[in-house]
Amino acid sequence: MPEAGASRRRIGVLVSGRGSNLQALIDAVGRGDLAATIAVVISNVPGAAALDRAAAAGIETLVLPHRDWPSREAYDEALAAALRDRGAELVCLAGFMRRLTGRFLDAFGGPVLNVHPSLLPAFPGLDGPGQALAHGVKVAGCTVHLVTPELDAGPIVAQAAVPVRTDDTHDTLAARILVEEHRLLPWAVGRVLDGGWRLDGRRFLDV
Ligand code: GRF
Repeated sequence: MPEAGASRRRIGVLVSGRGSNLQALIDAVGRGDLAATIAVVISNVPGAAALDRAAAAGIETLVLPHRDWPSREAYDEALAAALRDRGAELVCLAGFMRRLTGRFLDAFGGPVLNVHPSLLPAFPGLDGPGQALAHGVKVAGCTVHLVTPELDAGPIVAQAAVPVRTDDTHDTLAARILVEEHRLLPWAVGRVLDGGWRLDGRRFLDV
């Protein structure tokens, strides 16, 4: 088991909703599969279920409702400051339903990862599973990517595919994708924290 202590890498997780991907991170840390400490979980939505999951795991929680700030940039700077104050060196967006500006990325300064329920660049934006079903693709999946100011468009760290079945409904497909998200996200966070990677244009490559 990795030791809990000051030497562990500190990450911050941003959430807005149910928090199942946050739970996957908490569980991976608990099992010793992800050698990191979740320093803080921040929600822009008061009462998000993800906050209860964090509190149950003894993780500091913070609610920063974006409407309390006068501008998007001011909010993003406050968010970055809260993360830096807690020593976070990587940020994970786990169902954080708000676009971040370049101001956030510059102010935070470290890698920011997002998990998205489609095989990007197909179906960015809302409801990846619904878009996949409507388009009639035979293979769907999820993507973990580095966040850039463009929505769902940053360099891809990892992807996982699932079949689309003839009898799939939105819920059955979304559930099959979610299983893969929960596996992929902790792995990708560990991969980025471990280093030994570089970007060649858009390509995330081993050093
Ligand atoms: C996930 O499908 C994730 O890919 C997307 O938002 C959803 C969040 O779910 N970005 P949860 O809050 O982690 O359960």
